[in-house]
Amino acid sequence: MSLEKTIYIGAFIQCATLTELDICENGMIGVDETGKIAFVLRESRGRKFPDGEGWEEAKIVRILDYGFFFPGFIDTHIHAPQYPNAGLFGKTTLLDWLNTYTFPLECSFSSLEVARRIYNRVVARTLSHGTTTACYYATNHVPATNLLADICQSRGQRAFVGRVCMDRLSPDYYRDESVEAAVRDSRECIEYVRSIDPESDLIAPVVTPRFAPSCSGEMLGALGDLLKETGCLAQTHISENPRECELVRELFPERKSYADVYDTAGLLTEKMVLAHAVHLTDEETVLIKARDAKISHCPASNTAITSGRAKIRLMLDAGLTVGLGTDVSGGHTPSILAQAREALFVSRHVAMDHGHEAKLSVEESLYLATRGGAKVVGLEDRIGGFEVGKQWDAQMVGLTGVNEAEELDQQIGPVEIFGSESWEERVHKWVYTGDDRNTIAVWVGGRLVHSKPDFKP
Ligand code: GUN
Ligand code: ZN
Repeated sequence: MSLEKTIYIGAFIQCATLTELDICENGMIGVDETGKIAFVLRESRGRKFPDGEGWEEAKIVRILDYGFFFPGFIDTHIHAPQYPNAGLFGKTTLLDWLNTYTFPLECSFSSLEVARRIYNRVVARTLSHGTTTACYYATNHVPATNLLADICQSRGQRAFVGRVCMDRLSPDYYRDESVEAAVRDSRECIEYVRSIDPESDLIAPVVTPRFAPSCSGEMLGALGDLLKETGCLAQTHISENPRECELVRELFPERKSYADVYDTAGLLTEKMVLAHAVHLTDEETVLIKARDAKISHCPASNTAITSGRAKIRLMLDAGLTVGLGTDVSGGHTPSILAQAREALFVSRHVAMDHGHEAKLSVEESLYLATRGGAKVVGLEDRIGGFEVGKQWDAQMVGLTGVNEAEELDQQIGPVEIFGSESWEERVHKWVYTGDDRNTIAVWVGGRLVHSKPDFKP
């Protein structure tokens, strides 16, 4: 798709490193017809953009007062079909939660009508929260999985879409008939997803064994082979809940650890996104690092279904690559901004037991939400920051300086800005108190994919 050349002017904030923000108060970024960043100027006043290339006629998009452009969020772990269950937990923990709430709902995606309704909502909703890339679990239904990929493509969200595989410890009504059938159906989805839009490369498949308890050793091995054959990304769950870890020991007594179950199957590679990783042993951490497998930290889910507190700061110290996941509907919210906040809170709880070095900073949690997530899904060369050559996957964050009582109604969102805050302080307030009311507009690959009704590009 050819776009209009566009110049974005205003404040640009991104993560320079894991611990530092890069704040450009009044810059200018040019995005070309292919949606890529063509130039970055750190000072917009009195500076000329490259001439002779048609930038004089480019469209201009300016940021509102106190607002800033920020890289789009990356949700490294989300179950699209579970969206209707967000907020439903009862008194369950993981294994009974799956049986009570999750499997019956996912099974209903044999209906394309159900799938169309829910998948349209989840893609629109995550975009409205600034999620420009999502790594989705679908269900085991081929038509509905392919439909999710179509919906991501037509709504313009960058996405990985995975058909879920499981051949045991799941109800009879929702289980793969055989390993061969699961591989055949997964292959069909991979081929379909790859055929949707090969030019823009927006949508990609992801090999998806649900988790070790619901996959036989043969299933895991066959999916390890499929991963090698196709070169896809892969995703699964690991060490989320103590009872689940116990179950894996019972089901795979010959394996040294949960991570070793995946390693033996050929699944523990640099392409693998492991969700949760709450109860990893030191040996598993070393193995995951050696294989360069990635971690999706899902703090809201880990708290809501009482799974535990992942020691993320310590994992970062151990050299693991980490991003954030909403894990809807283990997590109650489709917002990655909320995960950044939850990650901060959980790390403070960890710090109460393990010392202050376990605490994450706001800067680190935003890094996980953007550059960390990009590394987790293997797209660090294309997304996660505002460098020349990267895709314009971005969000306009609106903060308000209006604080007069009669004008409160016109405020953009919940973040109260009084005008005297530094840019760092504004960002901290956004992380702790902001929500989708502050997400004014969202672009993926240069295309405007979500905006507030009164946003005038
Ligand atoms: N482990 C296996 N399946 C699931 C799931 O759907 N959600 C979560 N949070 N954990 C899982
Ligand atoms: Zn999950």
